[in-house]
Amino acid sequence: MGEVHSHRIKILLLIEFLVYAESNGPPYSCDSSNPLTKSFRFCDAKLPINKRVQDLISRLTLDEKISQLVNTAPAIPRLNISAYQWWSEALHGVSRHGKGIRFNGSIASATMFPQVILTAASFDASLWYRIGQAIGEEARGVYNAGEAMGMTFWAPNINIFRDPRWGRGQETPGEDPLVAGEYAVTYVRGIQGDSFEGTQLKDGHLKASACCKHFTAHDLDNWNGFDRYMFDANVTKQDLADTYQPPFKSCVQKGQASGIMCAYNRVNGVPNCADYDLLTTTARGQWGFNGYIASDCDAVAIIHDNQGYAKLPEDAVADVLKAGMDVNCGSYLMKYTKSAVEKKKVLESDIDRALNNLFLMRMRLGLFNGDPKKLEFGNIGPDHVCSQKHQDLALEAAKKGIVLLKNSANLLPFSKINAMSLTVIGPNANTSQTFLGNYEGFPCKNITVLQALQKYVNHTTYHEGCSFVNCTNAAIDKAVHLAKEADYVVLVMGLDQTQEREKHDRTDLELPGNQEILITSVAQAAKGPVILVLLCGGPVDISFAKGNPKIGSILWAGYPGEAGGTALAEIIFGDHNPGTLQLQHLKIISP
Ligand SMILES: *[C@@H]1O[C@H](CO)[C@@H](O)[C@H](O)[C@H]1NC(C)=O
Ligand SMILES: *[C@@H]1O[C@H](CO)[C@@H](O)[C@H](O)[C@H]1NC(C)=O
Ligand SMILES: *[C@@H]1O[C@H](CO)[C@@H](O)[C@H](O)[C@H]1NC(C)=O
Ligand SMILES: *[C@@H]1O[C@H](CO)[C@@H](O)[C@H](O)[C@H]1NC(C)=O
Ligand SMILES: *[C@@H]1O[C@H](CO)[C@@H](O)[C@H](O)[C@H]1NC(C)=O
Ligand SMILES: *[C@@H]1O[C@H](CO)[C@@H](O)[C@H](O)[C@H]1NC(C)=O
Ligand SMILES: *[C@@H]1O[C@H](CO)[C@@H](O)[C@H](O)[C@H]1NC(C)=O
Repeated sequence: MGEVHSHRIKILLLIEFLVYAESNGPPYSCDSSNPLTKSFRFCDAKLPINKRVQDLISRLTLDEKISQLVNTAPAIPRLNISAYQWWSEALHGVSRHGKGIRFNGSIASATMFPQVILTAASFDASLWYRIGQAIGEEARGVYNAGEAMGMTFWAPNINIFRDPRWGRGQETPGEDPLVAGEYAVTYVRGIQGDSFEGTQLKDGHLKASACCKHFTAHDLDNWNGFDRYMFDANVTKQDLADTYQPPFKSCVQKGQASGIMCAYNRVNGVPNCADYDLLTTTARGQWGFNGYIASDCDAVAIIHDNQGYAKLPEDAVADVLKAGMDVNCGSYLMKYTKSAVEKKKVLESDIDRALNNLFLMRMRLGLFNGDPKKLEFGNIGPDHVCSQKHQDLALEAAKKGIVLLKNSANLLPFSKINAMSLTVIGPNANTSQTFLGNYEGFPCKNITVLQALQKYVNHTTYHEGCSFVNCTNAAIDKAVHLAKEADYVVLVMGLDQTQEREKHDRTDLELPGNQEILITSVAQAAKGPVILVLLCGGPVDISFAKGNPKIGSILWAGYPGEAGGTALAEIIFGDHNPGTLQLQHLKIISP
């Protein structure tokens, strides 16, 4: 018996060795195999977290302290403190953007849910929660597999989508402060590991950390000579209270978000990251925020370099640290904090205040208690990433978000008659990348609308109509020819990231280039009314299509994520009944 038992242990040890040899495991501090850590009170998981943080900070030199004020925080080997990357993204799935997730080792993809504007259109808070939950779980799975360098995700984006030309409106839950607030609360509870009703994990523990951004009054990237770095939003107190702040207040108070990001822009002259009233009086004071505050990337540098609000770099450092910001995405604080201290613009206690919030976060994430794989969330393995359950949820979300804007003469759904012939036309028909929107990651699977429709119909023809969505040259004759021959026509049109994105706002709401001419020509030539599918985050003016009897049905599909093609095919063939015109979308067809 004894011998068999010991063999078994040897085999288990061997397996464990092989597993560890394959990946380096998750980074963490306070490794109990290091004898030094026994003497560090901050490593004692039995002490209250705030006592541990105080002990930790008291051991740091000024240089070590300064090194921790930027998103890429280096290790402090003499204290067995690991490196930490504050910047990761997870807007609608664990993203390849940011710096915290590798995606070049044992995990190459994660579930890509629809872009937020589409998910929000489901008006389904339980769905929003379940998506947050799935993302939090995948985030932990990636961390446990040793493929992440941080667990702080800079999502959700809950800015009010007030200007429909904004390139990043697609990332938000829309223009309604109540909907944006509810979205924030459910998504944050999901990702951080709390219950749908808001019951929190014990002792402030976090499965993953969410961050409400961009605080505040931020909905312009680059339009007509105005850019986000220089923009000074003039906002009345009433508009701030009624419109811009409610989602942030909900995110902090009801959602218990553990992060906030201050925005690039100024509000009434004051840069958000240097605004004591905003960060300290309002968020921490009035709303009881107890997490960390990050700057948008390089938002500290621009306070001096672009805005000229701070006379010297050291003034910018002092402004943000005294306002209540904790970590600088960028390197400005690493460069100028020492000289700011020497010039007596910043006190060491200002730095300690920020570090207190930062190390509290890392401890709440369980990264100072020894190997995270042996702790609370240690059993979340790589099989939780791209699990069938999560892929099914991505499909559910796409189906629930897509909206049927028009269905004259009940053209949809098509009956499943294999003998029918179908023509699919449009620059968005044979691409799966467009479905992902921005802040995307690598999806578990790729499928285009064309491929998904081909599963239903044997006789399918296809033409792109225009090579790109800008549609500078439309192949109208070719498309018209195909349309004439088919029983049914589906046009897959709209926008993509070349038209609306970060650093790029639109200047009008028209479909780009020759799209409108292509659509109306094809509709005119077709045997019967056609189906128009629109991929776009921001609204487009389709009043030309609303009254055209040859355009029988219009579907708005936002950017529907990795399962978007399947969702559209299921809707077109009646396997799912889509939502119909919501008040929110009335504006799309009658601006
Ligand atoms: C902590 O100590 C362990 C054991 O000595 C070592 O393997 C690990 O690399 C150390 N971590 C850091 C961040 O110093
Ligand atoms: C994987 O990515 C990380 C960070 O992005 C990088 O440091 C590392 O060298 C990469 N590894 C490989 C094998 O490419
Ligand atoms: C905001 O107000 C300031 C001061 O009145 C003015 O200089 C600036 O042009 C205004 N900005 C906008 C975008 O209206
Ligand atoms: C369509 O194709 C499927 C499988 O490829 C086949 O089973 C079916 O009989 C075909 N139907 C028609 C009408 O050709
Ligand atoms: C769809 O696009 C891929 C390349 O992305 C291409 O290989 C394929 O031939 C296209 N499909 C059709 C039907 O043209
Ligand atoms: C999906 O398509 C992208 C872009 O073409 C590609 O990089 C990726 O490997 C594909 N993913 C899968 C799972 O096939
Ligand atoms: C149209 O879009 C393509 C692909 O993004 C781009 O290469 C091309 O320059 C654009 N054409 C014009 C006229 O903007």
